[in-house]
Amino acid sequence: MVNSAPNARVLSGMRPTGALHLGNYHGALKNWVALQYQYECFFFVADWHALTTGYDDTRDLEENTWQMVIDWLGAGLNPSACTMFIQSKVPEHAELHLLLSMITPLGWLERVPTFKDQQEQLKDKDLATYGFLGYPLLQSADILLYRGNFVPVGDDQVAHVEVTREVARRFNHVYGRESDFADKAEKAIKRLGQKNAATYRELRRSYQEAGDEVALEQANALLSGNARLTVADRERLQGYLEGTGRMILPEPDALLTATPKVPGLDGRKMSKSYGNTIGLREDPADVARKLKAMQTDPARVRRTDPGDPAKCPVFDLHRIYSPPATQQWAAEGCRSAGIGCLECKKPLIDAVVQEIEAVRARAREYEDNRDAVRDIVGAGCEKAREAARETMHEVRAAMGLEYR
Ligand code: TRP
Ligand code: SF4
Repeated sequence: MVNSAPNARVLSGMRPTGALHLGNYHGALKNWVALQYQYECFFFVADWHALTTGYDDTRDLEENTWQMVIDWLGAGLNPSACTMFIQSKVPEHAELHLLLSMITPLGWLERVPTFKDQQEQLKDKDLATYGFLGYPLLQSADILLYRGNFVPVGDDQVAHVEVTREVARRFNHVYGRESDFADKAEKAIKRLGQKNAATYRELRRSYQEAGDEVALEQANALLSGNARLTVADRERLQGYLEGTGRMILPEPDALLTATPKVPGLDGRKMSKSYGNTIGLREDPADVARKLKAMQTDPARVRRTDPGDPAKCPVFDLHRIYSPPATQQWAAEGCRSAGIGCLECKKPLIDAVVQEIEAVRARAREYEDNRDAVRDIVGAGCEKAREAARETMHEVRAAMGLEYR
């Protein structure tokens, strides 16, 4: 895995569940903001995915989508550094989903843990639907459509990236076998130019004979940096390296970044379904009020009772927001009953409010100007479609659906 590959592509999506909260921010969005300056990034609103569980009431879907994009912009996603778009505005997602469905065994989808878990959790909904079973495959189509290399996701989504890898492998196996593959690959090597061709052969030998992973990375870097290659030839040379057929759809990797645990106001994980959230653009006075009432170590009943920061959700927030010195001050003051909980919360409230104020300030111009948001998403959809069309052209050709 080449973590620093500058032309690697990152792709991720979020379901439009309404205004985002601090859990969403620290769990995912903040990471996206950093990634946009390291990779070519595509971020999208997974509105079709929202339908898989929320098909019965779609009244808020559109407004939720706009509010989420405003949250993204407020958090610092920059339209000139990444591509933001809406899944359903790029119908190629549906086409690839359908084509992949032809080669995907039911068992692969049935055994994804979220399938049964969600059916258990959302008992009030009938999730014995075709669409819900296909959730991970739609996600695979999202990723493979852009030939995404890295997919930043939380732990709960790793199984979906794993399905995506299996589907890609199967696709390449079934449709990447050209009868004259070796011939075409050899011709493509010659097109690299004499020096690069020699390097490629050398690296390929190191990988195939000695399993040298570094050589594999270097060879792939050589290929992605070569502007003279056609897409088809690059796929051939990637597959030739690894001893497979054409790699039409590359297998993505999950990008797991250490994300902090974000407690909600009641001490459980911050989650919309628990009603214990702080909104990313919430009114600062409300935020302060909520934090003042936030659950602390239950053992600290009176101001004179010592507490244990390890048992206090407020301290988990200190870990995210406070510099080491403040954390130490809070922990010591807590254990010795030297400070009260309100005192302990004070610097935290200031830090949270400051963060939220910054988001609100950036979001303000978009809150008052829906057209500006539409323009950003519109341009993003165009860009996404361009990339999607390129992939679909390859996919159709490989499957014999080009009709030319
Ligand atoms: N399933 C993801 C979630 O619930 C959202 C999603 C849809 C996604 N398509 C994706 C994430 C593609 C990464 C890549 O969080
Ligand atoms: Fe929690 Fe701080 Fe109160 Fe200790 S002093 S219980 S860390 S809020």
